[in-house]
Amino acid sequence: MTQKQQNPLVRLWQYTSNYHRTIGVASLYSILNKIFDLAPPLLIGMAVDVVVEQENSLLADWGVTSVMTQLLILAVLTAVIWAGESLFQYLYALHWRNLAQNIEHDIRLDAYDHTQRLDMAFFEERSSGGLMAVLNDDVNQLERFLDVGANEILQLLTTIIVIGAIFIAIAPEIAWMTILPMPIIIWGSLRFQKKLEPRYARMREQVGILNSQLSNNLGGIATIKSFTAEAHELARVGVESNEYRTRNREAIALSAAFVPLIRMVIMVGFIAILVAGGRMVIMNTLEVGAYSVLIFMTQRLLWPLTRLGETLDLYQRAMASTSRIMELLDTESHVNSGDEHLPAAEVKGEIVLEDVMFTYAPFAENGHYDKLSASGSPISYPTIINDLSLRIAAGQTAAIVGSTGAGKTTLMKLLLRFYDITEGHIRLDGHNLRDLQIDDLRQAIGFVSQDVFLFHGTVQENIAYGTFAAPMAQIIAAAKLAEAHEFIMALPHGYDTIVGERGQKLSGGQRQRISLARAILKDPPVLVLDEATSSVDNETEAAIQRSLERIAVGRTTIIIAHRLSTVRNADVIFVLENGKLKENGRHEELVAQEGGIYAGLWQVQTGAAAHHAL
Ligand code: GTP
Ligand code: MG
Repeated sequence: MTQKQQNPLVRLWQYTSNYHRTIGVASLYSILNKIFDLAPPLLIGMAVDVVVEQENSLLADWGVTSVMTQLLILAVLTAVIWAGESLFQYLYALHWRNLAQNIEHDIRLDAYDHTQRLDMAFFEERSSGGLMAVLNDDVNQLERFLDVGANEILQLLTTIIVIGAIFIAIAPEIAWMTILPMPIIIWGSLRFQKKLEPRYARMREQVGILNSQLSNNLGGIATIKSFTAEAHELARVGVESNEYRTRNREAIALSAAFVPLIRMVIMVGFIAILVAGGRMVIMNTLEVGAYSVLIFMTQRLLWPLTRLGETLDLYQRAMASTSRIMELLDTESHVNSGDEHLPAAEVKGEIVLEDVMFTYAPFAENGHYDKLSASGSPISYPTIINDLSLRIAAGQTAAIVGSTGAGKTTLMKLLLRFYDITEGHIRLDGHNLRDLQIDDLRQAIGFVSQDVFLFHGTVQENIAYGTFAAPMAQIIAAAKLAEAHEFIMALPHGYDTIVGERGQKLSGGQRQRISLARAILKDPPVLVLDEATSSVDNETEAAIQRSLERIAVGRTTIIIAHRLSTVRNADVIFVLENGKLKENGRHEELVAQEGGIYAGLWQVQTGAAAHHAL
């Protein structure tokens, strides 16, 4: 909690502790470059001094009497100073830019890795577009600041200090005229920045909303087209985009006023020096050369100060982005790994559930779920798994059936520890799931999900996903068992065919078989098939069925299916209703139960089949 309230700059500083040395070196180059950059007005002053005062010039006071030699010295000084300025410019640009790239890279990987390890419940609450905005836009924003902003702030400070020092050295009587506006400008800039901050935060927030809208729409493009909802969607995107424009406008209204205002304040100092300095020259209390230095220096002050607005702008955006990145990094997961090591090779596959209760509750930052809605009325989250106890012996084939929404998939998500149960215990080979290392647990289970997800890439890569180093022969063997080999060979490039994003170039049944092959290749001690053959035709299903009977030997297999014909050979069938275990036993036993749920379902399905046949 305390960390969250910390200043984002402090957080960023702590975060970049590996780079403090490089930051120091880069800062030094920035400062040196600026010092060299500020020297030319002094050279101009000296040149004026040489041509006006000649044998009485400053350089003459230092022992160089010849005017030509004086000019020569100035020429050499100029060459040295300009070369130095160029050198340090190169060095600071090199260092800051590389630093920006390195920090950006680190923070992006860190934030991504942290995010991908967060609870499933977290992803239910946050849109992927919103997360993308943080992982991409915010990280880039930070890079932009480190790239140019940090250097500009340092150089501005150097400018103010060096010019202030020169003024005090040359003409202390009138130096205050330029120095006086300084605190006013800085104070004003900081106030201005405070005002701008919430406006940028609101803008960034809207970027996330807009992003999620866009990515959602692109994902659902087929639905949009089929419902000819293009105009509707355009209007919805229009609303969000307009809101973004409005919020940006609010920020612009303020930030655009900054430079003109600063110029007006500096103008006062400039005119004062112009007049007061001029008077002093006429009254012979100030050298002409010194007077030119003052005039040019005041000019030099103007430029970086007008950029102060932009720099603070950049700073402000970067800090808003840093806050959002840090907030993501500070998000803690609640489903945490245990310590017990259980290699997949040693898993026998006995699964026991004891009095399991489960409720989907929204992801809560602090681990405490909202008990009240925004309007103050109490929220009760429905119980999804209700006092469920069951046992699947090692090596058994078990089936789970039940009406849609009964909690079958949820049960499998609990087995994979995507969520933690609220009460009771789930054990694998006698180990409480919470005690096991989460990677071990998940490696022991092959899960063919109800909603198949394929990655953009080739068929081969998709089958080998998770078993990345598998040799081609094994990949083909797995594909054959999943009845996928034949259609894969018929694809334009066989196993090298690109499946498209989410596998959209394949049919539903083809995607299912690839995902089945993926689980078979993994060769896990526990295989979970959630409606794994629901999209294939009866013939293919029967063929897969035969393969599965071979695969199921020596491992625990859990099959979830609506088509009861696919589960009739299971060792044990569990009938789930509203998260409660209603019946269990073998097919024949359940069918024989007069008035039983399973018997009823069986009747409907076989009756319907008979009906079809007619
Ligand atoms: P079918 O797959 O349709 O046969 O249903 P199922 O038995 O697999 O149901 P599932 O376990 O997916 O869902 C049970 C209940 O949990 C449903 O009423 C859903 O509303 C709810 N539910 C399922 N998944 C999620 C989830 O990821 N988050 C939340 N909050 N609720 C979920
Ligand atoms: Mg399901």
